[in-house]
Amino acid sequence: MSRMSSDLNQVQMFVVMLPLTISHVALITGVAVVLVVTDPLLALVTLGALPFINLTARRFSNAIHPAVLAVQSEQAQLSTVVEESVAGVRVVKGFGAERVRMEALTTEADDIREVSMRAARVRARFLPVMELLPSLSLVAVLGVGGLRVLDGSLTIGELVAFNFFVTLLVWPLRSIGMTVAFAQRAAAALERVHEVLDVEPAIADPTHPVELPAGAGAVAFTGVRFGYGDGSVLEGFDLSIDPGESVAIVGATGSGKSTVARLLLRFYDPEAGSISIDGVDLRDIRVDDVRRAVGIVFEDTLLFNDTVAANIAFAVPGLDVATRHERIREAARAAGAEEFIDALPAGFETVLGERGFSLSGGQRQRIAIARAVLADPRVLILDDATSAVDPSKEHEIRSAMGAVMRGRTTIVIAHRPGTIAMADRVVLVDDGRVAASGTHAELLASIERYREVLAADGAVNTVGGSG
Ligand SMILES: Nc1ncnc2c1ncn2[C@@H]1O[C@H](COP(=O)(O)OP(=O)(O)OP(=O)(O)O)[C@@H](O)[C@H]1O
Ligand SMILES: [Mg+2]
Repeated sequence: MSRMSSDLNQVQMFVVMLPLTISHVALITGVAVVLVVTDPLLALVTLGALPFINLTARRFSNAIHPAVLAVQSEQAQLSTVVEESVAGVRVVKGFGAERVRMEALTTEADDIREVSMRAARVRARFLPVMELLPSLSLVAVLGVGGLRVLDGSLTIGELVAFNFFVTLLVWPLRSIGMTVAFAQRAAAALERVHEVLDVEPAIADPTHPVELPAGAGAVAFTGVRFGYGDGSVLEGFDLSIDPGESVAIVGATGSGKSTVARLLLRFYDPEAGSISIDGVDLRDIRVDDVRRAVGIVFEDTLLFNDTVAANIAFAVPGLDVATRHERIREAARAAGAEEFIDALPAGFETVLGERGFSLSGGQRQRIAIARAVLADPRVLILDDATSAVDPSKEHEIRSAMGAVMRGRTTIVIAHRPGTIAMADRVVLVDDGRVAASGTHAELLASIERYREVLAADGAVNTVGGSG
């Protein structure tokens, strides 16, 4: 992305320089005519430096370009290290890794110094020459002109005038050299910009979008095959969910549970098979409509550096001002978050995030659930919604989830038996397919793999207790 913006900058730079260049060309042409008329020989001496100035400017520009790019790229790397170290300060300090990060920072800083020195050396080599050439041509004018004044073929007044015209040339000439170089680079940059603009997004609105019919959120995956690169994560994946039904998806880590959620949000299209909501293929609906119909509480909740209220309402920016406050509060209540929010220093107006108030994992998740409640989607996906919560607080989250799930088609990606048991039905994802489907108790009793998966999740100790 930074590459792209630097490309755009170059093009803009050239466009800005263009009118200036045109006026410079006009000035040079005018002056050249005056010079030739005044004294052809002296004019030849003066203008003879032109090609050399141009050549030097071009060579300078070619040499400085990679050096400047390298400086930019090293600076980007340095800011990545700083950003990560600051954002991950708990991890860094927790592991006593200050020295490791310090070394990374030193390496990057040294790299910047090195490439900056390289750029400085290029400047040191070319800039004096570029300063010198016009001055030399002035000296030549004074020398040759002085001789001609001595032998009487030129008056002093003419020489002074001539000299004045020559100084007029210096700046425009230098600037044109630069512009020529810029033009070449801008042309190359423009090409790259076009390459980016010409990419068709993989996920796009259909040409003739179908309105999603009124419905209660029936979901169907039919023969879905999908993979992120080579090989497939899902293969022959069939799952249909009735309107209002809640289904828990259980599977080993990396089995593709979150992938199912991403496909339903149409972050990706399946390679084979189809996915539909209320009987309509996702690819026939506007992408915005799909994302409005499907709400998700992600594994890791992202809170913005904004108020609690704004964080809850962020998916529904057009909330009516009159009822906004009440609706946000209702959503928080349904998510079991109202109480702790009211206890925050400024209640719903407390600013969260990096420079604001920090919340616990469970509190963050309840904010995320409130966000989903307010968006009121047809289909709700809860991805691992209890993973960040300590077991003693799990029941609070669970009752919040229960409130949200009621009467709504819900997919719960769950690891803990207590959460799994909330769903009407459990499906086991294994080998890219739905390997088994039934109630938690049924699968526990009859499917060996189901017990294995739960055991691997560390849930085995609680299985006896809740099962
Ligand atoms: N963006 C991606 N690019 C490439 N591979 C990916 C990407 N996202 C996931 N994968 C791979 O796809 C597989 C399924 O990932 P997915 O996130 O669906 O697993 P999961 O069942 O949700 O696991 P977990 O229980 O650990 O959350 C994994 O092998 C993962 O490495
Ligand atoms: Mg996952």
